[in-house]
Amino acid sequence: MSVKTARASGVANVEIDYSKCTACGLCADICGGGLVGAIFKENGKMVVDQQRHFGCIGCGQCMAICPENCISVEGRTISKNDTIDFVKERKPSYEEFFSLLSSRRAVRNYLERDVEQEKIDKIIEGVKQAPVGLPPSDVEILVLKGHSKVREFVTDIINAIDHRKWIFGPVIRSFIGLFSKETADLFETYLYPTALFYIRDLKAGKDGLLFNAPLVLYFHASKYADPADAFIAATYAMLTAEALGLATSFAGTSSNFLRHNGKLKRKYNIGKNNRHGIALLIGYPKYEYKRRLHKSLSNVFYY
Ligand SMILES: Cc1cc2nc3c(=O)[nH]c(=O)nc-3n(C[C@H](O)[C@H](O)[C@H](O)COP(=O)(O)O)c2cc1C
Ligand code: SF4
Ligand code: SF4
Repeated sequence: MSVKTARASGVANVEIDYSKCTACGLCADICGGGLVGAIFKENGKMVVDQQRHFGCIGCGQCMAICPENCISVEGRTISKNDTIDFVKERKPSYEEFFSLLSSRRAVRNYLERDVEQEKIDKIIEGVKQAPVGLPPSDVEILVLKGHSKVREFVTDIINAIDHRKWIFGPVIRSFIGLFSKETADLFETYLYPTALFYIRDLKAGKDGLLFNAPLVLYFHASKYADPADAFIAATYAMLTAEALGLATSFAGTSSNFLRHNGKLKRKYNIGKNNRHGIALLIGYPKYEYKRRLHKSLSNVFYY
């Protein structure tokens, strides 16, 4: 049985060059954690068995680990040409990486400066490195490049909210409250007032939704994808952008309004049934933070 996703079906073809293979077993060990994979060691020889579990899902891990470079995978969007030798470069230390993480703030004030295409390309390359529930990635990105594109998107969404603001009214809220107190509270204390702020701001020529960012990436993915995929991809984009000296913020509310609007989904090329992720605002920061904050979690529980 093979796993179907939006971009792949069937198994990928796996070939081992036995003239070079030393039967070290590394490929079998990492393929599906040595348990649910497609490569096994039997009687001292590597065998590919596409029937035992899901067959080869095309993750490419075996090609990446083989010391003899003698295994190739073709199909499910990858091929033997998709491996790239590591350059001997140092990975950032914990201190360096933590510095990137802890200096990041949600930035909602941007300079009137466009983000260069070269940096956008680098951010997208960073996103491609994100893990996904099942390869190949079903994550899609809507790129809104430049203030006028972002403004058009914001105007479309807020006009749609304005037409449907009755959704947040007391009748629907009390109906939702029958099923989930938390969602009803969220509607009353956050979504409804936020919708009103957005409408008011737009009428005043301000953008309270995406804060006039010069670049917005909106992440979504097919229904085959894990619900987390688009969010993980967006987080990779955020960290890559930060590493490029850009400032970022997520804007979660736009997806709450976009996901129910077929007309806008068609306009922005978002699949009718796609899972909605999140919008990431990117730009050059207007202000420089002078210090970082101590932050906390709700709970860390060791069992
Ligand atoms: C899932 C998610 C959704 C968010 N949605 C919004 C949003 O719609 N509008 C906004 O201004 N900020 C949004 N943010 C940014 C948060 O408000 C911000 O991260 C939080 O206040 C903490 O600030 P910090 O990121 O500077 O530490 C979102 C952040 C996350 C993680
Ligand atoms: S590509 Fe992934 S699933 Fe396929 S054989 Fe290699 S490690 Fe296994
Ligand atoms: S990792 Fe390479 S050399 Fe080792 S068993 Fe697999 S194919 Fe053979």
